[in-house]
Amino acid sequence: MTAEKSGTFRIGGEIEINRLGFGAMRVTGPGIWGQPADKVEAIRTLKAVPEQGINFIDTADSYGPNVSEELIREALHPYPGLLVATKAGLTRAGPDQWQPNGKPEYLRAQAHASRERLGVEQIGLWQLHRIDPRVPRDEQFSAVKSLIDEGVVKFVGLSEVSVEEIEAARRFFPVATVQNQYNLADRRHEAVLDYCQEKNIGFIPWYPLAAGSLARPGTVLDRIAQAHKASPSQIALAWVLKRSPVMLPIPGTSKVKHLIENTAAAAISLSDEDFKTLERAAR
Ligand SMILES: NC(=O)c1ccc[n+]([C@@H]2O[C@H](COP(=O)([O-])OP(=O)(O)OC[C@H]3O[C@@H](n4cnc5c(N)ncnc54)[C@H](OP(=O)(O)O)[C@@H]3O)[C@@H](O)[C@H]2O)c1
Repeated sequence: MTAEKSGTFRIGGEIEINRLGFGAMRVTGPGIWGQPADKVEAIRTLKAVPEQGINFIDTADSYGPNVSEELIREALHPYPGLLVATKAGLTRAGPDQWQPNGKPEYLRAQAHASRERLGVEQIGLWQLHRIDPRVPRDEQFSAVKSLIDEGVVKFVGLSEVSVEEIEAARRFFPVATVQNQYNLADRRHEAVLDYCQEKNIGFIPWYPLAAGSLARPGTVLDRIAQAHKASPSQIALAWVLKRSPVMLPIPGTSKVKHLIENTAAAAISLSDEDFKTLERAAR
C-alpha cells in the first residue's frame, strides 16, 4: 500500500485521502479520444489503483468523452473507500480538441450525467474544468452552487484558475480543491499553490511527472535520481509531494508497470538539501 506513504489530506475538511492519487485521463485513446489501444491493460491498471493504496482518482466527462468514467465504473464500482472526482466544462469535437462550455444548463446536465455514468448517488468532488470566458462567471458559479444545494455533488473544485478567480468563486461556495498544471519544471502557479496552502484547499497539480530539460542525463536531477536508485520522474514527483502538505498529485498512466513505478515515488524521502538544489536548478 505504497501510496499511504504520501500522507493524507482531508478534501473539504472531511473526505480523507492519501495525497498521491491517480489521473484517469490516459485510460482513453490517442488524443484522449475513444477507447484505449489496450482496454484489458487499462482495466487492469484501474483495478490495481486501490491495491497500491491509492484512494483518490481524478477523471472528467470529457476524457474519451465518457470513456474514462465508464471504464472506472466497469473496473471499480461501487468504489469501496475510494473518492472518484470528476469534472465538466470542456466539450470535445475530436482528438486533442477541447472547447469550454460554461452555460449553466450544460454544466448542470453534465454533472447529472457523470453521476449516472459513475453510478453514485452523489459525486464526492466535482470540478469546473474551465471557467468559460464567454459566459459570465457568476452564472457558472451559481450553477455549481445549485449542484451542491441539490446534493448532486458534495465538494467542488476549480481548474486552471488564478487567486482572484478562486476568491470570486468562494463568494458562491467553498472551494475544496484547485487543479492547475504544476510540476518541477512548470511553476507558473506558485502563488495559487501558496494561497491554497494558506486556506487548506487541496492543490491538484496536473502533468506532475514532467521535469523538463532537467530529466536529461548528467543533470542534478539525474544525479539525485541515481543516488536514490530512482528515475528522474519519480524524483520529480517526490519533489512535488514535498513542496506542500496540500499537494495532491495525480500521475496518469494506462499501464500497470508505470502505475507501480509512479506510486513508488511516495516512499522516496528527499532531504531538504536535495529539495532546495532541485528547486534552484529548475528555476
Ligand atoms: N485540469 C486539467 O485541465 C487537466 C489537464 C490534463 C490532465 N489532467 C489530469 O491530470 C492527470 C495527469 O496529467 P497527465 O496525464 O497530463 O500527466 P502525467 O501523469 O504527468 O503524465 C502522463 C504521461 O506520462 C506517461 N507515463 C506515466 N507514468 C510513466 C512512467 N512511469 N514511465 C514512463 N511514462 C509514464 C503516460 O503514458 P503511459 O500511459 O504510457 O504510461 C502519459 O503519457 C490526468 O490523468 C488528468 O486526470 C487535468
